Amino acid sequence: VTEKKIDKLLASMTIQEKVGQMTQIAVESLLKTTSGHLVEPNELDLEKLTRCIKTYKVGSILNIGDRAQTIENWRQRIATIQQMALSERLKIPVLYGIDAIHGNNYTLNAVMFPQQIAQAATFNRELVKKGAAITAYETRASFIPWTFSPVLDLGRRPQWPRIYETFGEDPYLVSELGKAMVTGYQGNDAAIDKYHIAACLKHYMGYSMPLSGHDRTPAWIPERELREYFLPSFATAVKAGAKTVMVNSAEINGVPVHINKHILTDILKNELQFKGFALSDWQDIQFLYQRHHVAKDDKEAVMMAINAGIDMSMVPVDYTFCDDLVALVKEHKVTMARIDDAVRRILRVKIELGLFEDPIVSANNYPEFGSVVHQKANDEITAECITLLKNQNNLLPLTTGKKILVTGPAANSMRALNGGWSRKWQGDNSNETEQDKNTIYKAIQNVFGTANVDYAEGSRFTEQTDLGTTISKAKNADVIILCLGENSYAETPGNINDLTLPTAQIELATALKATGKPIVLILTEGRPRIVSAIEPYCEAVIQAYLPGNSGGNVLAGVLAGKINPSGKLPYTYPRYPNSLHNYYRKYTEELSIDVNAGYNPQWEFGYGLSYTSFKYSNLKLSRNKLTGDKPINITVDITNTGNYTGKEAVLLFVSDLVASITPEVKRLRGFEKISLDPGETKTVTFIIAASQLSFINNNLKRVTEPGDFMLSVGGLKTGFTYLPINKN
Ligand code: IFM
Repeated sequence: VTEKKIDKLLASMTIQEKVGQMTQIAVESLLKTTSGHLVEPNELDLEKLTRCIKTYKVGSILNIGDRAQTIENWRQRIATIQQMALSERLKIPVLYGIDAIHGNNYTLNAVMFPQQIAQAATFNRELVKKGAAITAYETRASFIPWTFSPVLDLGRRPQWPRIYETFGEDPYLVSELGKAMVTGYQGNDAAIDKYHIAACLKHYMGYSMPLSGHDRTPAWIPERELREYFLPSFATAVKAGAKTVMVNSAEINGVPVHINKHILTDILKNELQFKGFALSDWQDIQFLYQRHHVAKDDKEAVMMAINAGIDMSMVPVDYTFCDDLVALVKEHKVTMARIDDAVRRILRVKIELGLFEDPIVSANNYPEFGSVVHQKANDEITAECITLLKNQNNLLPLTTGKKILVTGPAANSMRALNGGWSRKWQGDNSNETEQDKNTIYKAIQNVFGTANVDYAEGSRFTEQTDLGTTISKAKNADVIILCLGENSYAETPGNINDLTLPTAQIELATALKATGKPIVLILTEGRPRIVSAIEPYCEAVIQAYLPGNSGGNVLAGVLAGKINPSGKLPYTYPRYPNSLHNYYRKYTEELSIDVNAGYNPQWEFGYGLSYTSFKYSNLKLSRNKLTGDKPINITVDITNTGNYTGKEAVLLFVSDLVASITPEVKRLRGFEKISLDPGETKTVTFIIAASQLSFINNNLKRVTEPGDFMLSVGGLKTGFTYLPINKN
């Protein structure tokens, strides 16, 4: 039915109408302004909208710079846009998209979940799916059917300012959680119902490895490594039915991905059989000419990008994209078949979203928008993100009746808890709603009592303030809760030249240490800033990442022992700014006895403590020879040997001992999150098949080589041999 409907539409569309479908305009250029400034509450300018929809037949709109709106404003905005689109000859609805990357952060009162990096620390597929399903509901409730999420780039360059938008450094973890997020957003069917939205996998592919660590700068990744590390998360999500893909803004091996036909067409559309559409990133076709210098003008840039496989242009230069593309078709520099393919893909997504029948979900019935049920789900997800990295002498949980000083630049800031892409692109707290205002300081006051809790700013993120007052307050306290980290940022404005935590914060920690009072360090940061100088000063360290709106409450609950932390690091936390490794690492990266450098992170991937203790025992294999495709079952018993009920992420790593390409020291190949009461034992089962031992060889073929492998789970190790069936 869908393809027939598309055939019919394509047959009656003019070239202008087709090119319009391939165009995505920023709503900021469609809003009312006076003397160049937006007029609150950011109303549409009908003259600008008419030019967009009626003159240029534009098929998609997005927003980024615009600030959060009420749900009523959103509904009115989308309804106005759709009414105009449906009054056109072919009645094709507009596809509106936003960056709802940790909840629908562009609608006031919608839930703001922890950022993706924090969600990765849960190692819990079900929770990630649940958060995405709520995001979908609250986004669709605002009449918006499309989110530019999830980020499936690997967070392998700690300086890169978009680490917090990823699921961390491990390809398997990113693939598994990416799949969970896509199904949470879209539901399980090809047709998306009115409580779900279309996902957009980004940024396809290899975006996260800029050599300089700065956003949108060159990466050098051989195709073997692209296929081994960077492709699997996208391949898994495409297989799970993801509807759209956004393309990497940067270049790989000297070629901007926006003109890389091999990556966009051969691999994505042909090899992976992706049926949705590929969207450019912001102005990135124009940047082929302006920044990358691979096209001599805008028109040549359009030709190169569309011929490589871009289907929709996000924020082209005014409407010259449309004019250029029409001209290019007339000049036979872009074929009509390529245009029809792009438009077919776009119309398919609009049909599958049900936008033709009901572009504004007219029987809108979303009683759970911003509800207590959704807030509680946020609390639950946030609780499993928090990662306890150090707890000397069991300082935590804090005993009651202690006098607490809460200090540091992140202590009283919602902006620091949420990070970028929160209410505004660079993060914001100027239009917070009441529920948003639960900072770490306020939440600790609520839990431990106002009389017991004092506050001092301590320092700003990058500059000193009145240290004297803070130190005298610290002297009167029994314990110091020191909240350090980063202020919010998004994308390129978040570039840094030094991964070490800023000097002002290091100085604050050093001065507090001199008081002799025990320090609990809470880190709210988008990437792992180096803390090796101050970690020894702190009895306890909690990694909170960017925990979102529930962050304050949950952290206070952790300090009080009402919540038992169960997060584990989804990345390697570096100790030194010039020694940046991933846990996969090759054997040559290990610390050697004669060289005092090597793999020696502050905390390893997968590290995280609990208030209880877990004992791993009975690691067993169903067979110690893996033959052909018949998998091996691996079982391990985990016992809660402490006094608290606790959750544990059980991680299975596999090591290939000898291979034709230097093998990684270990690779994650399974994880399960379980909950155990004190004294309770559970058995976790993993299944390993030959395909999970495979790697991409130098001929770009996925192979499993025969030989010995080692398995490790929670410090226990065992081994097995793989024999291909024909050698058995
Ligand atoms: O979705 C984002 C992308 O991640 C970075 N550039 C802008 C896009 C739209 O806001």
